[in-house]
Amino acid sequence: MNKKCVTIPSLLNRKKNGKKISALTAYDSCFAKLLDTTDIDLILVGDSVGMVALGHDSTLPVTMEDMVYHTRAVKRGLHNPLLVGDMPFMSYQVSDADAIANAGRLIQEGGAEAVKLEGGAKFSGRVEAIVNAGISVMGHIGLTPQSVHQFGGYKVQGKNYTDGRLIKKDALALQKAGVFSIVLEGIPTDLAREITEELSIPTIGIGAGPHCDGQILVLHDMLGLNLEFTPKFVKRYAEMGSLVQSSVENYVKDVQTGSFPSDKYSYTQRETALRRVMNDDSE
Ligand code: KIV
Repeated sequence: MNKKCVTIPSLLNRKKNGKKISALTAYDSCFAKLLDTTDIDLILVGDSVGMVALGHDSTLPVTMEDMVYHTRAVKRGLHNPLLVGDMPFMSYQVSDADAIANAGRLIQEGGAEAVKLEGGAKFSGRVEAIVNAGISVMGHIGLTPQSVHQFGGYKVQGKNYTDGRLIKKDALALQKAGVFSIVLEGIPTDLAREITEELSIPTIGIGAGPHCDGQILVLHDMLGLNLEFTPKFVKRYAEMGSLVQSSVENYVKDVQTGSFPSDKYSYTQRETALRRVMNDDSE
C-alpha cells in the first residue's frame, strides 16, 4: 500500500491549523487517476453519479450496486486523497442493521475509507450505529438532494431564523453522534460561518459561502462538462463540454474529408508485413 497523504486525523488537524480542505467528486478510474496527481484532499463518489453520469433527473434512483461499482472504479485510480463513498437513498433510512451492512459494502467492496449520508438530528442515532460499527461517517445537511420532493425543488435552505436554528441543531447532533466532518450544502453564508465556528470538526461547503473549513464541487460541473447546469455556486475552471464538442466536430470533418487517418496515423505495408512474420497482431 502506498503511503497515504490524507487521512481522517490529518483532516481533523486541518481545522486546528486553519488550512482549507479541497474536495471534489469522481465516478470513474480515468478521472480518479488524474485527480490523484493533484493536491486534492478528498474525493467523494457522490450519488450525484445518478444525474452526472447515469442520466437520471435526481439522485433518488441510485442504488447500492451503482455506488459500489463506481466507488470501486474510483478506488482503482486513487491512492492519496481520502476516498468517501456516498450512501444512496434507502440504503440507510430503514434500519441500523441495513445502514451498517450497506456502509460496510462501500468500505469492503468499494474500497472507500469513509461513508457519507444525508440527514441531521433525525439520523444521529443511525450515524452513531455506523460509527460504533467502526466505519467513519461524513454528515450532509442543508439542501440535501435526496429530500428534493420534501423541499419542493433544489432550494437554498435555512434562509429564515427558525430553519437556520434547526440546521445548526442538525450539525451539533451529528458532531455528537461522531461524524468526522459535515457537508453544508445550499445554505446562507452567515449560517455556514456560525456552524463552522461552533463545531470542532471540519465543515465542507457547497453553495455555502467562503467560511467553511473546506469546499467541494461536482467535478463535471467545475470542468464545464455539464453544459446546461449553471448555478450561482459553481465556478467553471474549464469549458470541457465545448472542448469535447469541437474536438468531435473536427474528428468528424477529418473522417469525412479523408484527412484522418493520414500516413502519420497509419502502419506502412512493410511494418504490417513484418509484424505478420513475427506473429504479432497487436495493432
Ligand atoms: O452526491 C454528491 O455529489 C454530493 C456532493 C455534492 C456533496 O453529495
